[in-house]
Amino acid sequence: MSCSSRPPARLGVLVSGGGTNLQALLDAADADPRFGGEVVVVGADRADAGGLGRAKERGIATVVRQLSDHPDRATWEARLRADLEAHQVEVVVLAGFMRILSGAFLAGWPDRVVNTHPSLLPAFRGAHAVRDALAYGVRVTGCTVHLVDEQVDHGPIIAQQAVEIRPDDDEDALHERIKRVEHTLLPACVKLLCHDRLEVVGRAVRIREESS
Ligand code: GAR
Repeated sequence: MSCSSRPPARLGVLVSGGGTNLQALLDAADADPRFGGEVVVVGADRADAGGLGRAKERGIATVVRQLSDHPDRATWEARLRADLEAHQVEVVVLAGFMRILSGAFLAGWPDRVVNTHPSLLPAFRGAHAVRDALAYGVRVTGCTVHLVDEQVDHGPIIAQQAVEIRPDDDEDALHERIKRVEHTLLPACVKLLCHDRLEVVGRAVRIREESS
């Protein structure tokens, strides 16, 4: 079966915040008939995540799984996994999802969970990557789109792009410029995943030629 005749991959997107990366994915899928993926559900770990509204506006199913509503982390994660499985999700996109997912969750989608992170990994892992880069005084930072493994901000890297730091940058201004880059890089990487063009060899991700 050629790529173009394959039904679009079913994408589940997890968000914690405003969801501009979710929006970029939705826009990319709309604009590109060969995108190869369709967002079928958006999940959040907080009821006030702005990304939920963006999904609802499009009539996309949403689920909210707050850690505090569950007896423990394992139960929370198992329910989140079941939510995505109920929508037959094939690729999971972490688009500003600020929770760590364990191997028990990741086992549902081997090499098919992708994250965008606002630094050039392996520099500045964690929840404050933009602030940490500014505090360190680096001249260049950027964003990384990578496959997710059991360690935080660690899995095989699909793509990275640099963003220069300006002398007058504060965290918000710099993060905005990084996000603008993420808005192109994340959809491009998700498209590759949807077309099954990524091959993981050790820590390296090879991008296969497009099949005709
Ligand atoms: C993005 O910059 C993403 O890289 C970051 O959160 C932002 C979400 O923005 N993720 C992390 O820091 C994960 N460690 P958005 O909600 O507007 O898409």
